Amino acid sequence: MEKLEQIYEGKAKKVFKTDDENLYIVSYKDDATAFNGLKKGTIVGKGVINNKMSNMMMQLLEKHGVKTHYVKELSDRDTLVKKVSIVPLEVIIRNVSAGSFSKHYGVEEGIVFDEPTIEFSYKNDELGDPLLNAYHALALKLATKEEIETIKTMAFKVNEVLTEYFKGLNIRLVDFKLEFGRLPSGEIVLADEISPDTCRLWDLTTNEKLDKDRFRRDMGGVEDAYNEVMKRLTSK
Ligand code: TMP
Ligand code: ASP
Repeated sequence: MEKLEQIYEGKAKKVFKTDDENLYIVSYKDDATAFNGLKKGTIVGKGVINNKMSNMMMQLLEKHGVKTHYVKELSDRDTLVKKVSIVPLEVIIRNVSAGSFSKHYGVEEGIVFDEPTIEFSYKNDELGDPLLNAYHALALKLATKEEIETIKTMAFKVNEVLTEYFKGLNIRLVDFKLEFGRLPSGEIVLADEISPDTCRLWDLTTNEKLDKDRFRRDMGGVEDAYNEVMKRLTSK
């Protein structure tokens, strides 16, 4: 399958048409941004790692009954996916306090929750991806009531599967962001990516950060962290 016309370029990926109108190719870049594009950089080799990791996660989730956009890995950076229209919601699940949760509520990072939390932001760069609740999403017609219920159920299922899986790699899944898409049939599937860009991953023993927070917070060792996650994923 070949890349035809580029239809979209995001901060970390490009999307191309193919000769099948129902399939797209996503191509992962090494570009990294944070704070809504304010901070820019490169994480060498990130595109290859995020492509591989995301595809592994999508296949694992499919095995557990979660429908995704994944079709086939084409190369180091390119993957064939089903064409979807993205629901403009960023769906965030948290198991442990960190990041904006700690900031908003004035609590330290690392508090383990009894139950996971879910929150939505409106995927809109101009507005800075503002937080909203399900009623706001309905008011803005971003999704239907049924779609929001489906998305919630799927997101918690993803959390169950991935939390267990990462435990086996001695990694704590602290929090993560998901995006969902609609197939032409209207069916909701998991889309976008699951990678150290979109998850907080802490070593279970040392709490060392193995994710994009090392870039966001200028901690150094960014490439090493991505490589370490990949090493654990592939040595299992
Ligand atoms: P937050 O604590 O900054 O709200 O981030 C929660 C999770 O979502 C974290 O795992 C990083 C991920 N995330 C993205 O994937 N994209 C984003 O634009 C932001 C702000 C967070
Ligand atoms: N990718 C997002 C941006 O550039 C933010 C993040 O991942 O922190 O704004």
